[in-house]
Amino acid sequence: MAIQERSTEEWQALDRQHLHPFTDYKDIAETGSRIITRADGVYLWDSDGNRMIDGMSGLWNVNIGYGRRELADAAHRQMLELPYYNTFFKTTTPPAVELSRVLKEITPDGLDYVFYASSGSEANDTIVRMVRHYWNLEGKPDKKTIISREYAYHGSTLAAASLGGMKAMHDVADLPLPGFAHVMPPYWYDFGGDLSPDEFGLRAARAIEAKILELGPDKVAAFIAEPVQGAGGVLIPPATYWPEVQRICKEYDVLLIVDEVICGFGRLGTWFGCDAFAIERPDFMTLAKGITSGYLPLSAVMVGDRVADALLAEGAEFTHGFTYSGHPVPCAVALENIRILGDEAIIDRVATDTGPYFAERLNALADHPLVGEVRVRGLIAGIELVADKASRRHFDDPGKVGGMCRDHCLAEGVVMRAVRDAIVSAPALTITRSEIDELIDGFARCLDLTAADIKK
Ligand SMILES: Cc1ncc(COP(=O)(O)O)c(C=O)c1O
Repeated sequence: MAIQERSTEEWQALDRQHLHPFTDYKDIAETGSRIITRADGVYLWDSDGNRMIDGMSGLWNVNIGYGRRELADAAHRQMLELPYYNTFFKTTTPPAVELSRVLKEITPDGLDYVFYASSGSEANDTIVRMVRHYWNLEGKPDKKTIISREYAYHGSTLAAASLGGMKAMHDVADLPLPGFAHVMPPYWYDFGGDLSPDEFGLRAARAIEAKILELGPDKVAAFIAEPVQGAGGVLIPPATYWPEVQRICKEYDVLLIVDEVICGFGRLGTWFGCDAFAIERPDFMTLAKGITSGYLPLSAVMVGDRVADALLAEGAEFTHGFTYSGHPVPCAVALENIRILGDEAIIDRVATDTGPYFAERLNALADHPLVGEVRVRGLIAGIELVADKASRRHFDDPGKVGGMCRDHCLAEGVVMRAVRDAIVSAPALTITRSEIDELIDGFARCLDLTAADIKK
């Protein structure tokens, strides 16, 4: 059935039966939804014909930008050849085989095996099951607790939301489930006090060690973290953090899970966050979002040799999987997306040109009266808006000022996101310098409008 042309009011009226993710249903019933109808490059158009610059690349995922015909062609070709077959029961398809080969090549050493799913949440859920299975196989059935961090986002299924460290998510569903624990994130601006960032990086890592000792090393199965915490507010760890985390995981025989759902596929100017922070031989890596640049749903769990060897040696069925694990169409799209990221040297450009320029433009806003801190790496940034710069004091009603600024941005045609009172941005990796100018100039205007609102 072709999708009819409708007015914005008609779309909004029909959309009332749709319960959106992460949405206040009372609020949307009053305001109506925004209807995005078209996109190209870094731009979006809504149903009233307004053009917006997308400072979030969708949900941190449209890494190569909108409108790439090659990805549509790859999906079209694969749909005609083989639109679906599953990978259960000793079966596979050429796109799934080929993608596994490519992922093994581009991910860090020691991650030689892959398990497919369709979302980051499912991938993290899969990891929780694999971790539990692994320690059972090792004869250590008590080693089950997974440590994560406050403000972490690892997805919305019960297990993934338990891994997550967002209070509001826990509150709506009596989470976390048993077997999950949380420690402080490497968030110097909020938790660093008088420590230097490097001193604080060690302290934040040692909070993991303290939690392991509190629970007992024989009870702790794994630690999960993003290289840079994205939805938590773009929290970039000090340089001392990741080396110490790796030491701790090794010392207490705790598996290391690196969630690369946002950082993977070039966001930090390297293929993976592991490359940016010298995270060596993690036991698992979660991939999603940028793997297909969001053109189709796909996720993958990269599994390290230690766990994979145990699974291979066991000789019994791993009773887990999804109808769409290794779906040939998203796998074909992922292959084309990865080819484009490599052939067009997009990630190199983030590292050497657009990333540094994005940082230069944002760092110039550090003197703005509302800006407490600018955190930026590659093409991801968090700008902390605060009540008092000198004392690093936040506003009294957390989230209000961030929301005001985000709403000004949307009204100005600049799509940004607010996390508490930080404004976060993660544009397509293909953004040009002049588009960065447009994005940051628009954002700077909205900072002024927000500052003026606060004074009223
Ligand atoms: C780091 C991280 N992990 C996992 C997820 C969950 O991915 P999905 O929404 O595809 O389930 C997200 C989504 O934003 C994420 O940012």
